[in-house]
Amino acid sequence: MEVWVLYGDDIESTADLAHEIRRFIAEAAKVDDVTLKVYKPSQLDLLVTQESRDSILIDGNAVPLPDCVYPYYNHIDQSYFSLAIVRQLERLGVHVFNGAATIERVRDKLHAHQILAQSGIDTPDTMLAKFPVDIELVEKTIGFPVVVKTLNGALGIGVFLLESQSAFKDLMELVGETNPNLQLIFQKFVSVSKGRDLRLFVVNGEVIAAMERRAKDGGFKANYSSGASVHMFEPDQEAIDIAVKTAEALDIQVGGIDLLFKENGGYTICEANTFPGFKGLEQASGVNVPLRIFDAMRLALNEKKAKNDNVTSIAQ
Ligand SMILES: Nc1ncnc2c1ncn2[C@@H]1O[C@H](COP(=O)(O)OP(=O)(O)O)[C@@H](O)[C@H]1O
Ligand SMILES: [Mg+2]
Repeated sequence: MEVWVLYGDDIESTADLAHEIRRFIAEAAKVDDVTLKVYKPSQLDLLVTQESRDSILIDGNAVPLPDCVYPYYNHIDQSYFSLAIVRQLERLGVHVFNGAATIERVRDKLHAHQILAQSGIDTPDTMLAKFPVDIELVEKTIGFPVVVKTLNGALGIGVFLLESQSAFKDLMELVGETNPNLQLIFQKFVSVSKGRDLRLFVVNGEVIAAMERRAKDGGFKANYSSGASVHMFEPDQEAIDIAVKTAEALDIQVGGIDLLFKENGGYTICEANTFPGFKGLEQASGVNVPLRIFDAMRLALNEKKAKNDNVTSIAQ
């Protein structure tokens, strides 16, 4: 099968997810049935037409479509164009792992929490900021300390823990004065999970690997990219269930689901990621992530083929 990975940054650099792209390339080279190509979204052109439904323009030339596409955009690549490419490939019938609707849904942290809450999945109480901020209302509904996050942030950048009302008030005044259009959410601080969370990697409805992350130096953010240590973690059934349900509710085919520990046992969902890095995860779990993703792609293509064959045989 031919697989395209879409990645906007420099593969040979230290950019976010560049290591993972190199892992995909290395693993694809070891298996006979996978031809892997990596394209930057900027190499593609979008021509919406009734004709030529079996190719797409790359560097100005019509190139036959692949079997599967894995959009793997890092936090810098949030452009409309990159998303439009994914949409176009889906429309052309290519099997896309994490479609455009899923990417958009998950990128918006509030939207993702709205869907999870509606699906009966445990998430910390979360509120969208409105300027000027009504601090009394935040105190009453969320309470302090409070976690403040930018709506579309990643890698822990744009996530703050504000211990007191006065620290919160100062920050909100600053934001209100300088950038009142900044989209922020306020979230209940899950204190027992301070500096600790779980990452479960879900592929096609199955948890393929898991790890625990612990923040360094008493910090509260357990992002691997901000230096957290990673540890092997054998997920219990409750953790597996909540991660699988989350992926299902958000329609994620490949994703990292992050869980926080709750006070009296059990878990609450911190967030979901459609472009999860897996350097720390492979280290902690020993699982070969690219191979597991290729397996899931093969399975999805076989299912699609079986469905098509069935339709053809009924029509005959
Ligand atoms: N409500 C919360 N309570 C406790 N810790 C949290 C909470 N929200 C986030 N964190 C910590 O901060 C980290 C980053 O937050 P997250 O929402 O995952 O943002 P990002 O998308 O930038 O990774 C999490 O991995 C977790 O360790
Ligand atoms: Mg996170």
